Parts: sequence; structure tokens; C-alpha cells
Amino acid sequence: MNRKAIVTGGSRGIGAAIVETLANEGYDVAFSYVSNKDKADAIVSALSSKGVKIAAFQADIASFESAQAFINNAKEFLGDVDVLVNNAGITRDKTLFMMQPEEWNAVINTNLTGYFNVTRNIVGYFLKNKRGCVVNITSVSGLVGIAGQTNYCASKAGIIGFTRALAKEAARAGIPVNCVAPGFVDTEMTQAIPEKHLDEINKMIPMRRMGKAQEIADLVSFLVSEKAKYITGQVFTIDGGLTI
Ligand SMILES: NC(=O)c1ccc[n+]([C@@H]2O[C@H](COP(=O)([O-])OP(=O)(O)OC[C@H]3O[C@@H](n4cnc5c(N)ncnc54)[C@H](O)[C@@H]3O)[C@@H](O)[C@H]2O)c1
Repeated sequence: MNRKAIVTGGSRGIGAAIVETLANEGYDVAFSYVSNKDKADAIVSALSSKGVKIAAFQADIASFESAQAFINNAKEFLGDVDVLVNNAGITRDKTLFMMQPEEWNAVINTNLTGYFNVTRNIVGYFLKNKRGCVVNITSVSGLVGIAGQTNYCASKAGIIGFTRALAKEAARAGIPVNCVAPGFVDTEMTQAIPEKHLDEINKMIPMRRMGKAQEIADLVSFLVSEKAKYITGQVFTIDGGLTI
């Protein structure tokens, strides 16, 4: 029987690469998207021919009720669930001096409370069945300070604390909970960075390039596999040497 995975924010970027990678490895996948239905539908139709079950559900993870409905729909579609990947996230970059409460709240509510909203609605199922694993996508911004990202850095550092505490709660049931912390990855999120800054960013990275979404997805695919069952509470940085 296929293993079964839930992925948030699977319609583009890193999330789409995770959905595609898991589907290619034989997982049935249910993923959420917030607004880009066309892209989500295109992913579903491209992967449906692979002999796995794929479905996309519209959900705003910043809302507990919406996250709950997503998890319920995903469980109903998949039957059982082996994997949760919390990936959906946003940026609203600005120096703190200029930052508005809405920009702070949007990032914390999506990136940090959103992970609570989703995970809270499935962790009981994992614990009861002694089955499951969680990978949370954080960022190097959760490990080092980045000017203009107080909201994003706070949310991503929060995810690391959330992961470690949940890893301890879930360990007795044999459920691994880990973080992946990418550096700069070439997605629509980073395509918003002005061209002149992109050159500076590439020079700062020892490997002289941004990561590819596929490279992040390959690490996630290892962490959710049976090969990684004894790894828990860890943060895996994948950044071309940016933070060494
Ligand atoms: N791109 C990078 O350089 C980079 C680096 C480190 C960490 N990350 C993290 O990786 C994850 C994916 O980033 P990406 O670059 O693919 O971003 P992206 O903007 O390309 O995709 C983000 C995804 O999250 C979804 N999403 C956003 N808000 C949502 C909400 N309220 N409810 C449900 N879904 C929502 C979007 O629909 C989209 O599918 C994020 O958590 C991001 O913080 C990205």
C-alpha cells in the first residue's frame, strides 16, 4: 500500500517540489493551496497518471477552522496518514521601524500559528496510532538575524522551538519531528528580491548560487522515509554554506 502524505502550500515553489517528489516516490498526497487554484489543479492532473492518489484543497492555514477542514478532508481522501510536511509560509519584509502591525501579524499568524493550526489537528491521530512523522520547513532566518525580517525571523525561530518541544512529546510514540532550514532558494518568494540584491546574495553564498526547490524536497523525502525513523528534534540546514 502507498504511504500517505499531507503537505501545506503545495501549489508552487518548495511545496510543489515536495508534492512532486513524494508522488514520484509512490506516496499518495493531499496538499493545500491558498489562492492559486489553476497551479494546484495542474499539479494534480500532471501527477494523477503516476499511479498514486493526489488531491488539492483550498485552505488558509492562518485560520484554525480552515486548517481543521483541510486536515479532515485530507484524512478522508487518503484514508491513513504517515507524513505531515508544514511548508506554507509568507514574507512581509520591512525594517521594524517601518513595520505595521498587520505585517507582523500576517507573518506570525501564517508561519508560526499556521503550523500550530495544522499540526494540532493531526497530532492526536499520530499519537493514538503510534504512526506518523512531521517535517517543518523553517529557514536560516530562524537561526541568524536578517535585517528587514524581524517578523519572519521570529516566526522561523519559533518553528524551531515548536519542533523541539513537539519532538519530545511525540518521541515515546516513535514519531519523528524535525525541521529543514533552507537558505536562499530560487522560488517565487525570492524572485520578489530586486535584481541588484540577487547578485550580492549569490556572492555571500559560498557555493555562489541559490538552492533549488528540488534540493530541499530531496532532503524532506529522506527525513520522512523509514530510513530516518531515529532522527528527531533536529534542524537540518541546507544553504550552500551560507551560515557556516
Ligand atoms: N524561497 C526561499 O528562499 C526560502 C528559504 C527558506 C525557507 N523558505 C520557506 O519555505 C517555505 C516555502 O517557500 P517558497 O519559497 O516555496 O514560497 P512560495 O511563496 O513560492 O510558496 C508558498 C506557498 O505557501 C502557500 N501559502 C501562503 N500563505 C498560506 C496560507 N495562509 N495558507 C495556506 N497556504 C499558504 C502558498 O499558496 C504557496 O503554495 C516557506 O515556509 C518559506 O518560508 C523559503
